[in-house]
Amino acid sequence: MEAKEKATDKEHKHKKFTNLAVLTSGGDAPGMNPCLRAVVRAGIHAGFVMYGVYHGYKGLVTSDIIDFNTRSVGGILHLGGTVIGTSRFPEFEKASVRKEAVANLKAFFINGLIVIGGEGSLRGALELENEGFPVVGIPATIDNDINETDYAIGFDTAVNTVLEAIYRLRDTAASHGRLVILETMGRHAGHIALAAGLAGGAEVIITPEKRLSMDEIEELVQQCFTRKKLFTMVVVAEGAGSANEIADELRKRTQKEVTTTVLGYIQRGGTPTAFDTLLASQMGALAIKAFKTGKTGTMTSYKDGKFQLVLIKDVLKKPKPLNQDLYELYKILAM
Ligand code: F6P
Repeated sequence: MEAKEKATDKEHKHKKFTNLAVLTSGGDAPGMNPCLRAVVRAGIHAGFVMYGVYHGYKGLVTSDIIDFNTRSVGGILHLGGTVIGTSRFPEFEKASVRKEAVANLKAFFINGLIVIGGEGSLRGALELENEGFPVVGIPATIDNDINETDYAIGFDTAVNTVLEAIYRLRDTAASHGRLVILETMGRHAGHIALAAGLAGGAEVIITPEKRLSMDEIEELVQQCFTRKKLFTMVVVAEGAGSANEIADELRKRTQKEVTTTVLGYIQRGGTPTAFDTLLASQMGALAIKAFKTGKTGTMTSYKDGKFQLVLIKDVLKKPKPLNQDLYELYKILAM
């Protein structure tokens, strides 16, 4: 009897959600495609009718909504970016625009939405959920600035891209004995700069969470000269300063040769790493499980070695702190 009740309960929850849509939103991140593939295929496997929304939240308003089958997401596993397109769509902050979006979803009998994106995209998702339209979020941003998860999809690939750039810069910097300054992306966060800087052996890492004054930067750089290091590598996150401005100042102060590299959008593209592909595939399947069990208003998370669902409202409460252990380790290893 108990087992029968449980089964009925499950069916009920399953019946509640029939047609699900998926979109990618905000800055693209490597791994969005394998995530999309996992959502669509796990969704169809679980018995849902699956739809893809093109161009992020904007596509909800323009009704750019297409029904997907398992073949719709074939051949995309290794591709960077997102094959269904994305957008920054600040208009979605308006309740009237969200109302229009929901009406368009309902016209397709879609009763649940999966949003793959960063912090701004999750804010939009929470608004929809609070207004009564069920949503599950999947964190995807190279910045990795989303709380309640150790990793967002795309971060690992971006860090590997920056690391490769660091290795190449080390070759030329060592040959000339130069001071090199590399600027990374990350918006208001320094996770990319810290992870890639530590892995790449940077002497100085500057992040928005651990800002350094020009005097402090000069002092650290002078210490490297005193230690007779072959070359000196400074990694600065875009939210903490500009490589070119720091270089101008250091040239004046040290009379040394200083070169700069601003990596920019190169960090956002490329084939996702195995880590990101696995993360994306598992998070995609977990989002479907969230709908099966009626746990909406949640975000998929990978924390302390475990996949889990966390409430989006908790995720958005405060900014994700910089990994303090990594920061302390960088300071020791940079000697
Ligand atoms: O959020 C990802 C990111 O690449 C940030 O690192 C960067 O600050 C921002 O997007 C750039 O945004 P856009 O693509 O709108 O220029």
